[in-house]
Amino acid sequence: MKNVLSAIQPTGDIHIGNYFGAVQNWVRLQQDYHCTYGVVDYHSMTMPYKADQLRENTWKMVFYLLACGVKPENLFIQSLIPEHVELCWVLNCVASYGELTRMTQFKDKTEQLHESDKDAFVSVGLFDYPVLQAADILMYHAHFVPVGKDQEQHLELSRNIAHRFNFQFGKEYFVHPEPLFTATPKILSPADPNRKMSKSLGEKHYINLFAEPERIRKQIKSAVTDTGDTPAGEMSAGVSNLFEIIQACGKKEAYDALMEDYKNGSLKYSSLKETVAEALVELITPLRTKLDELNADKRAVKAQIQDSSAQFRKKAQQTVREVREIVGLPNLK
Ligand code: AMP
Ligand code: TRP
Repeated sequence: MKNVLSAIQPTGDIHIGNYFGAVQNWVRLQQDYHCTYGVVDYHSMTMPYKADQLRENTWKMVFYLLACGVKPENLFIQSLIPEHVELCWVLNCVASYGELTRMTQFKDKTEQLHESDKDAFVSVGLFDYPVLQAADILMYHAHFVPVGKDQEQHLELSRNIAHRFNFQFGKEYFVHPEPLFTATPKILSPADPNRKMSKSLGEKHYINLFAEPERIRKQIKSAVTDTGDTPAGEMSAGVSNLFEIIQACGKKEAYDALMEDYKNGSLKYSSLKETVAEALVELITPLRTKLDELNADKRAVKAQIQDSSAQFRKKAQQTVREVREIVGLPNLK
């Protein structure tokens, strides 16, 4: 079985965009690959954050992922494996400065910081973010990395780093990781369907995966359907987003029936919205039940993830030991 690795930052909440765009796919991949998934808390230190919140959000994300069906033995917390930082240092010395200055995520995030404050502090950590990501991937010899298109450039950097390392030290040591672009939907903000659903836009722009059913119904009911800028004869972004969600929920029959109505001009937005809301509630209810079960014994769940992280740490230590040999550093006995 080939190795798959992916990771997500502990952002506090998980929204249906994250679920349909990433996590659902992670869960499915567990059947066919040897999967390793990380909650990357070191990465979350690259933008302004609060220390007590980071730890809380890290555990929150662990619980959410488990509730969604990620297997505990496949999950680790990045900072419990400090070898990621050590490998990052070694890779820093084969990554080129020029290459990192071209990373669009770095430019976007720098701009985002400067938007709120023109003298904003931009850390070396933010600049180095993609090298730490390369360390996550190369550490476990991942063949495939399921990511969204926005991460394509970082993946290419990881490949370049692996290639340069192998060339420089004359040994085919690191696997060249390939992106795994599974067709996952891009979910838009219900309040502004011209933008991608995202937590950073504010509360009304994302639907929390673990929200109360009533809140979900309310949010879908007030979803924007017409923004007034849709060319005649085309489906508006808001309506197409609602169709997308029905499809993502696996409701093919309802999707086909409503699409038929749309095509012959008899579609009522109220019934479209009702179908979307009920499909989401149906999907989310068992996930909420699972989350409640996990929360009932928090200590045991945390211990399980500490154990799985310790198991992954053994693999990481092995990699780092081999890397130290290759690059000319001494090892302990
Ligand atoms: P983020 O929290 O934005 O870093 O995203 C974490 C994961 O969720 C990434 O794999 C993204 O591609 C995915 N994701 C985030 N927002 C959306 C969205 N609106 N639609 C689909 N996938 C998304
Ligand atoms: N940068 C990724 C994101 O924003 C998160 C990430 C960190 C990651 N390390 C990774 C993704 C390793 C895949 C593999 O979504």
